Amino acid sequence: MTTVASAAPGASTVSWHHRHLIDVDVVSWPEIELIMRTTEEMKGILARPIRKVPALNGRRVTTLFYEASTRTRVSFETAARNLSADVVSIATATSSVTKGESLVDTIRTLEALGAEILVMRHSVSGAPYLAAEIFGGHVLNGGDGWHAHPTQALLDLYTMREHVPGGDLRGRKVAIVGDILHSRVARSNIWTLTAAGAELWLCGPATLLRGMDRWAGAWSGGAIPGHGRFNVTSDIDAAVRDADVVMGLRIQRERMQGGLLPSLREYAAMFQLNAERVSLAKPDAIVMHPGPMNEGVEIAPDVAISGRSVITDQVANGVAVRMALLYLLAGSHEPAHAEAAL
Ligand code: NCD
Repeated sequence: MTTVASAAPGASTVSWHHRHLIDVDVVSWPEIELIMRTTEEMKGILARPIRKVPALNGRRVTTLFYEASTRTRVSFETAARNLSADVVSIATATSSVTKGESLVDTIRTLEALGAEILVMRHSVSGAPYLAAEIFGGHVLNGGDGWHAHPTQALLDLYTMREHVPGGDLRGRKVAIVGDILHSRVARSNIWTLTAAGAELWLCGPATLLRGMDRWAGAWSGGAIPGHGRFNVTSDIDAAVRDADVVMGLRIQRERMQGGLLPSLREYAAMFQLNAERVSLAKPDAIVMHPGPMNEGVEIAPDVAISGRSVITDQVANGVAVRMALLYLLAGSHEPAHAEAAL
């Protein structure tokens, strides 16, 4: 188990015992705080002239991405290299997957080739659970279908805490606007933000909110202990008004069967985060987006680069969060390794 002492004097220490990280739904709030503190330490390393530490020296991190990615894959690989791990990167477009190899065979092959931590992205929701059943090492989910994107939610949480005075999200209003239906980012953010005590609003056209009312009902009925309720609306002004955080999500056309949106132009007219809508938020509100952005659709270009935008902070924090998670997972079953030098 990896134990990291809290920075706050007298605060308790929490142990990390998860072998895999497939979603944040199994991570308790004290464990989320452990991840946040470990990320803080990793940010300290990233501020040094030499950003490399030996914590994962000789360990093998393999990235297996069945879906397109720029920032998530590069971020994981940068994080692993900063911890001195050996990194093997599989792009499925050039692997035996194109010859019909199954996920199970691919994972067995990678394990035989020495993979210890497998970072994977897959278009099928739940694929990492199958991987975790057959893989002897650690599985880290880099996004599966519509289901989950735990490292994105954790880097979003870290970035929000950095910008909200006191780092406390309790009672802070967070509006997530866009294609909620297809968004694994939104689904993981629901877990972390309702655990953090934020007042969460999910907003989009009714066709892109399908099923969310049922989720919201379960949350507000107290079925999920430790998680506050959240709101679902198609009224963008109500969602954004007085928000502390406004997050845009990409319209995921590649996941749409058709018929969910009249046109992108109409979507932009009604839901785009433009300067006028964002001005309804608090004066010091921040604007976020997990990327990749379709500027001019879900977000106006001037808003994306405005002084309120922390979108590049999200990308930079992603490396530190992923360093923290690789470090915690690698140490989770090897007590000797837990003391590895940072
Ligand atoms: C997101 C993803 O892949 O889920 N991007 C990311 O990882 N930063 C969001 C998206 O694709 O729109």
